[in-house]
Amino acid sequence: MTIAADKTSVPMIEARGIHKHFGGMHVLRGIDAVVPRGKVTALMGGSGSGKSTFLRCLNRIEEPSEGEVLIDGTVITDLRTDVNRLRADIGMVFQDYNLFPHMTALENVTLGLIHVRNKPRSEARDAAAAALGRVGLADHLEKLPQQLSGGQQQRVAIARSLAMRPKAILFDEPTSALDPEMVHEVLDVMRTLATEGMTMVVISHEMGFLRKVADQLIMIDGGLVVERGPTLRVLDAPEHKRTREFLSAIQ
Ligand SMILES: Nc1ncnc2c1ncn2[C@@H]1O[C@H](COP(=O)(O)OP(=O)(O)OP(=O)(O)O)[C@@H](O)[C@H]1O
Ligand SMILES: [Mg+2]
Repeated sequence: MTIAADKTSVPMIEARGIHKHFGGMHVLRGIDAVVPRGKVTALMGGSGSGKSTFLRCLNRIEEPSEGEVLIDGTVITDLRTDVNRLRADIGMVFQDYNLFPHMTALENVTLGLIHVRNKPRSEARDAAAAALGRVGLADHLEKLPQQLSGGQQQRVAIARSLAMRPKAILFDEPTSALDPEMVHEVLDVMRTLATEGMTMVVISHEMGFLRKVADQLIMIDGGLVVERGPTLRVLDAPEHKRTREFLSAIQ
């Protein structure tokens, strides 16, 4: 009798012993983390603690100096990995959107579908339009980034990740460059994705959002995880001194 491997028990993302050096600076000092599938994991920590660097190691926008990352049970920190495909599988949304300014919303979303997913142009356009529809931008397909608000541009960036049918999306402070009235429209899209079962790793200081949407919090300090646990437990009964200091500083 064979026992079928149960994919659902394998974490979507697992990081083991991640170190990162920038020249003489030892920025990540051995981070382990498990990102369960279909859940929202939030990274917290002070400025310079290593949150962005760690997040970027998960899809190798930054190369870890040491350690392994597994996606869906497969090691991706090796030479054989196709990093373009990896970055389509593990999408990323940045603070500053990173859209191509000379391309329309539709073209920005279509690009990766054609060049990374090898979709025929018409199929790519249909998939891109559908993704833009999911983030509420069906009426803005032909606009250039400069013709869109910050919140709309960030939703294009989310659609760009979404269109690739990713296994997970990483968000690095997706609302911190937005005017306050646009923050909610981006958080609403993220909340919907979470409800639909998208695996997400989020760096955000929107504590109300994290409280409602994040399943687990990981507190990073000085390139190390100092505390982790279910969101409400960490927020309401932090165990580590640095977590308590951080939470009282931002609230
Ligand atoms: N490309 C780089 N070259 C050199 N040093 C870097 C680089 N990227 C990050 N660092 C340094 O690594 C440390 C961690 O940076 P990181 O951006 O990961 O912190 P963070 O927790 O995301 O901070 P913030 O909340 O301000 O975004 C900082 O000291 C930063 O200056
Ligand atoms: Mg950062």
